[in-house]
Amino acid sequence: MEQTLAIIKPDAVQRQLVGVIISEIEMNRFAIGAIRVLRLSADQAARFYREHQGKPFYESLVAYMSSGQLFSLVLERDQAVDEWRRLMGPTDPAKAGPLTLRRRFAIDMQRNSVHGADSPATAAREIDFFFGEGA
Ligand code: CMP
Repeated sequence: MEQTLAIIKPDAVQRQLVGVIISEIEMNRFAIGAIRVLRLSADQAARFYREHQGKPFYESLVAYMSSGQLFSLVLERDQAVDEWRRLMGPTDPAKAGPLTLRRRFAIDMQRNSVHGADSPATAAREIDFFFGEGA
């Protein structure tokens, strides 16, 4: 059993896609270990995405991720990190396979509906960000 951190992003929450995305999560045999609904401040979004600081899309990404409520989830199953990334599809929805969440629901490269940690180490850091002491 492995854990990963998932986010249902503001574009998906605003379009009332939370139910269908959680349904896909459960149909793909993830258990939901924790869930939190919150709106990030710009400072929190900037901290969460700090490894992207300096990239051309960073300022816009921070504004978007603090623009409305999101759902953060701890997902649990075998190979959770890789399996959640497979279910999401790649960052660019145009390159994503037909059954992936991003191909089905994303608007564009930024408003791509869902996030997932890219490694078990990142998952631990991101779970701590949303669910740890002082989160
Ligand atoms: P995510 O998986 O949350 O990780 C970083 C986020 O930055 C990514 O999803 C997108 O929302 C956004 N992003 C990554 N690359 C680009 C890009 N080229 N243009 C706009 N947004 C991007």
